[in-house]
Amino acid sequence: MKHLTSKKTKIFSSWPVYDKLEQKALDDTLKSNKWGCIDGNKVNEFEKKFAKFHDAKFGICVNSGTKALEIALKALGIKPGDEVIVPAYTFIATAYAVAEVGAIPVFVDIYGNSYNISPLEIEKAITKRTKAIIPVYFGGMPADMDNILKIAKKHHLAVLEDAAQAHGAEYKGKKAGTIGDISIFSFQSSKNMTCGEGGIILTNNETLAKKCKSIVNCGRKEGEPWYMHYTLGGNSRLTEFQAAILLAQLTRVKKHNEIREKNAKLLTGKLKQIKGIEPITRDKNVTIHPYHLYIFKYKSKYFKGMPRDEFIKTLNEEGIPASGGYIMPLTRQPAFRGLNRKLSPKVLPESEKACKEAVWLPHYVLLGNKKDVEDIVVAIKKIQQYCNI
Ligand SMILES: Cc1ncc(COP(=O)(O)O)c(C=O)c1O
Repeated sequence: MKHLTSKKTKIFSSWPVYDKLEQKALDDTLKSNKWGCIDGNKVNEFEKKFAKFHDAKFGICVNSGTKALEIALKALGIKPGDEVIVPAYTFIATAYAVAEVGAIPVFVDIYGNSYNISPLEIEKAITKRTKAIIPVYFGGMPADMDNILKIAKKHHLAVLEDAAQAHGAEYKGKKAGTIGDISIFSFQSSKNMTCGEGGIILTNNETLAKKCKSIVNCGRKEGEPWYMHYTLGGNSRLTEFQAAILLAQLTRVKKHNEIREKNAKLLTGKLKQIKGIEPITRDKNVTIHPYHLYIFKYKSKYFKGMPRDEFIKTLNEEGIPASGGYIMPLTRQPAFRGLNRKLSPKVLPESEKACKEAVWLPHYVLLGNKKDVEDIVVAIKKIQQYCNI
């Protein structure tokens, strides 16, 4: 499409953000000569602070969110042949971790209005072999946990919250992280707080916490000889440099969440007035939404049939970062072909639809001011006008 006029020239705040806090933290760690968590105390300090921020008793740092999922599943006792229910519309890590411990990821559909896993579909997928559910807090928004917890209780299933995108999120006044039995967060570079790569497990259950701590650290036990290994586990530890950065990043999460919430509210109000743009519904039980992603559905018929991907490309040319997200539901990803075809429903209409209609805006576009929000709206309206000329 021909370039539109008067594109946004002021770029949105870039990501990640850092200041003297991170610089000093890195410098101090460098000079301390304590670079690994075995020698230093930064990882320990961060585990405590991040857990406290989420009202959790225990935090265990891991070198990625993916590994955190895998370790949490192992701690829950998920074994080969067990079935674990996951949404089909999520990042591959949610299901990969299940397969990695030898269990079977059973994919179920999402709610069409929130893009989070549908409890109705979870119930339909439960068999005698089902052991756990992994609700993903997609885009940072907690899933329908009231109903998910009811189902889990009824069928004696463990709940592992995939809060990889949900730092500081809250559901009915309760922080993400201890709504289920155990949870994970990611600190990979795109996330709302980051140290490049990394993750953490949170839980209130001391037994699970001890198991995770041991698996992260080569199967060791605290206070026991270095070369005693009680359980199978590799080295999944975080470095002191990463923890030093995360301690600095944590100081901004609350404020950033507040700014994003305010701007998201403004944006939703304005976007709802544009025909063909439908922001995802925010669950009324969600008391803090960190907006790792701001998501809306794009209806091409209101843009003279302009394909979603062309709309996104034009939006990008107008200076608005946006993407279409997942290309296909995980059920259709080549990596999972043949793995569990019989267990997952053949067609997952809402996940398929989300892959075709969704437009994702990254969290940092909501860290600016009112003018930045208006720029998004102006760009969309301009594209619509152009289509209708
Ligand atoms: C929903 C979800 N789960 C898990 C992960 C895995 O986290 P990591 O990239 O830190 O391994 C991600 C990361 O993008 C994610 O979005």
